Amino acid sequence: MKNVLIAGTGSYLPEKVLTNRDFEQMVETSDEWIVTRTGIRERRVSNRNEAASDLGAQAAMQACLDASVSLEDIDCLICATITGDLPLPSTACIIQKKLGLKSAPAFDISAACTGFLYGLELARCLIIAGNYKNILVVAAECMTRVTDYQDRNTCVLFGDGAGAAVVSAGESEQNGLIGSFLAADGEHEDLVYIPAGGSRLPASRETVDRRLHFLKMEGSTLFKIAVLSMSEAVRILLKRFKVKPEEVGLIIPHQANLRIINGVAKNLGIPEEKFYVNIQRYGNMSAASVAVALDEAKRERRLKTGDLVVTVAFGGGLTWGANLIRWVR
Ligand code: ACO
Repeated sequence: MKNVLIAGTGSYLPEKVLTNRDFEQMVETSDEWIVTRTGIRERRVSNRNEAASDLGAQAAMQACLDASVSLEDIDCLICATITGDLPLPSTACIIQKKLGLKSAPAFDISAACTGFLYGLELARCLIIAGNYKNILVVAAECMTRVTDYQDRNTCVLFGDGAGAAVVSAGESEQNGLIGSFLAADGEHEDLVYIPAGGSRLPASRETVDRRLHFLKMEGSTLFKIAVLSMSEAVRILLKRFKVKPEEVGLIIPHQANLRIINGVAKNLGIPEEKFYVNIQRYGNMSAASVAVALDEAKRERRLKTGDLVVTVAFGGGLTWGANLIRWVR
């Protein structure tokens, strides 16, 4: 084994679309406010029969097809999600069953919007350690299930979707998945969180009445931290691997707010055109945002062999980080 590479990617978006105009009927808001403050025009909503594992399994199958890796050759499955099907078992195990993977280890990671980046780095390290050859990293979220459609501060922001990548041991001299910078700061756990439904505040009639199973967020505080920490993550990553900003071909950022992405571009002195943006179509899909964007960038031929690609994200936890990839496909 000479390198670790992203051998294939896939994504899945539910069919149902919720537009900004739809929200005008639900809360006091406007298409104009949502577009100018966030960049979002529409988002996808999973139907009643679809849970995170259904979205994730579709994206995973596409990634395997794209990688030309058969399901029998997948030897580990990692699922990044904060909206898993059930508290127990893990969504990774449910996806494993849906894919018919026999005994491959499967587990979830919870790092909110940074989850896919954590998953890629974890997969890279597991492969380098020599235990696995093909790891499926899936990011699957049904954010609309934890969104309060009575709260205009949050309801317009989130959507559902899934993305996946097959991370494989490679034999080429080229770089592939080079390395990452990952970070967390639990001091700010309550800037974006779901108060009830865990062991601190189990579900009860009162928690439901008080709408505590929905995501709560301090948007403007998070906005400032997001711009700073995403900029810092890219700076640290590039310095660590001795890459100049102008050598980066494409940056795939988390899609929480177009103004955050533009702020990061400005901070880093990297042109906005180098940032892949699809927030207008999907809103914030938490861990799935970067995974879907990576797959779409590949299908739109924005990733060329030899390009240096940076992913960067920020989310609840707080967590943030960035991956450096030499695209070798
Ligand atoms: N429609 C109309 N008005 C609205 C809406 C809406 N949908 N939402 C908020 N407003 C109002 C507010 O009530 C406020 O009104 P007020 O001044 O009368 O009080 C005004 O708009 C300004 O509110 P702000 O919160 O200051 O607006 P801001 O420009 O900061 O935009 C937003 C809000 C979009 C949430 C932004 O702060 C943001 O994107 N924050 C970052 C979110 C983020 O990064 N989350 C990542 C974590 S998500 C995760 O981990 C799962």
